[in-house]
Parts: sequence; structure tokens; C-alpha cells
Amino acid sequence: MSTDVTSAEPTVRRAVVTGASTGIGEATTILLRENGWEVVAVARRVERLKALAERVGCQWYAADLRDDTHVVEMVKKVLSEGPIDAIVNNAGGALGVEHIADSDTSKWREMYERNVMTALNVTRAFLPHLRKRGGDLVFLTSTAAHDTYPGGGGYVAAKHAERIIATTLRQELVGEPVRIIEIAPGMVKTPEFSLNRLGDAHAAEKVYEGVENPLSAHDIAEAIVWTLSRPSHVNIDSMTIRPVAQATNTCIARNL
Ligand SMILES: NC(=O)c1ccc[n+]([C@@H]2O[C@H](COP(=O)([O-])OP(=O)(O)OC[C@H]3O[C@@H](n4cnc5c(N)ncnc54)[C@H](OP(=O)(O)O)[C@@H]3O)[C@@H](O)[C@H]2O)c1
Repeated sequence: MSTDVTSAEPTVRRAVVTGASTGIGEATTILLRENGWEVVAVARRVERLKALAERVGCQWYAADLRDDTHVVEMVKKVLSEGPIDAIVNNAGGALGVEHIADSDTSKWREMYERNVMTALNVTRAFLPHLRKRGGDLVFLTSTAAHDTYPGGGGYVAAKHAERIIATTLRQELVGEPVRIIEIAPGMVKTPEFSLNRLGDAHAAEKVYEGVENPLSAHDIAEAIVWTLSRPSHVNIDSMTIRPVAQATNTCIARNL
């Protein structure tokens, strides 16, 4: 896998952000850098990672996080260059809005891989390091990890499963110096999320139609950086963040 991981200052906190090539992961990388963190930005698209690294001075590593062998290589390389203080498990996404009756098995499988296996692979591979020296694990789930909606089945199932990694791990590691943080956003307007889900720009734009101020990637990045900067005895277990115009997954105010 392509890599450009350079050594970090030992006194500076260092994070790995997955899904950093766009959206929330990119915004988190930028904000962590602005707050003095070293960051290793991870995703599949090399050109976008390189451009981000040039812009904010982060390190980067290109890997398909569904593949455990890529993840093990990535973790080996990252740790050979210095310790890690936080992992932001952000890679993920939704595919389709079919009802269960019409569900597409390949999309369900891919959503499980993209949201659950990426987070599991990365978490498991960094865990021995984090348990030894202390550190933080952030999981970008969703309000879809807490409630369902028609057409959401496959994504909701995957996000519930991802959340269970966090809630189980918090119990399994109780007493150890590892914080487990869940960030559960509602509607966030990012350039690719709805485009990937629905497959065309017009349908993607309609998701946000008439909604006054959907959340931005930066809003979520601020929450992530805040949780990571709490005193080390404080664990923000779970934070749900929605735009004011959204009350539930389906109850959304639209000025149409
Ligand atoms: N936007 C929302 O409304 C919203 C709401 C709640 C929760 N979330 C969750 O928050 C996270 C980020 O959302 P977003 O809107 O920023 O999503 P996004 O714009 O679709 O970005 C997803 C990121 O994940 C990476 N990724 C996907 N599959 C990967 C793989 N196999 N290996 C490595 N990287 C992979 C993508 O990079 P490459 O394509 O370069 O690999 C990309 O950087 C996701 O987990 C999403 O489910 C989003």
C-alpha cells in the first residue's frame, strides 16, 4: 500500500483518522491539525490523501480497511513511526434506500463490511498498543445506530452493529486507560454521503432540500476534537448531534 508516514514528535498527541479522504474524516483531520495534533489520514484514494497532506501537513496511508491484511500492514507502519493516542473510526457509509421486501443482499453485505468490519479491523489491530500506553477510540456511528426508519434497514443494521463494538469494548476494557467514545450524528451535509447512497447528484441534493442548516462536517469534527480533549478520566460515552431542523431520523422540518 502507498504510504508517506513520517515520524511524530513524542510530546505531540497523534491520531489515526479513517475515511479521511472527504467529509467528516477530512474535516476532523484538518481540525486536529489546527489543534496541534499529528494525524495519519487513512482511506483508499491516494490522490485525495496526498492533497490533504499537502494542505494541512498530515501523514497519510492508503488502505482498504475491509481487508484485514491491509489493516495489519497499516498499523505496523504507523506504529513503527511513533505512538498513537487516538483512533477515529470514521470510514463508512450507506448504500440505497430499498425497503426490506426489495432489499439488495450485496448492498447489505457491503454496508456491513464498510461500517462494521473496517472499524473492527482497525480497532483490534491498534488495541494492544492502546491498552499498553492508554488512548482513545472514537466510533462515528449515526442516529441510525439508535433508531430505524423505512428504507434504512441495511444501514441501520450495520450502524447498530458498529455501535455494539463500542458498547461491548467499553465493558471488556473497564478499568484500563482506554476511552471508548461514540459520536452519533443525524443529518450531515457532506459532498459524498448521499451521492454514494443514492447514486446521482439530483437525488442526493433532494435529501437536504428545504432543510435549514443541516450539520456540516466541521460541526462533527468539533464534537470529536472536544471529546478527545476532555481530561483523561472523563469518557464521553455517546453524543447524539442533530441539526435543529431534525427531531428524529424521519421528522425533519423543510421549508418547501
Ligand atoms: N453524512 C451523514 O449524514 C452522516 C450521518 C451520520 C453518520 N455518518 C457516518 O459518518 C462517517 C463519515 O460520513 P461522511 O458523510 O463523511 O461519509 P463520506 O463522505 O461518504 O466518506 C466516507 C469515507 O470513508 C472512506 N471509506 C469508505 N470505505 C472505505 C474502505 N473500505 N476503506 C477505507 N476507507 C473507506 C471513504 O474514502 P475512500 O473512498 O477514499 O476510501 C471516505 O473518506 C461514516 O461512517 C458515516 O456512515 C454520516
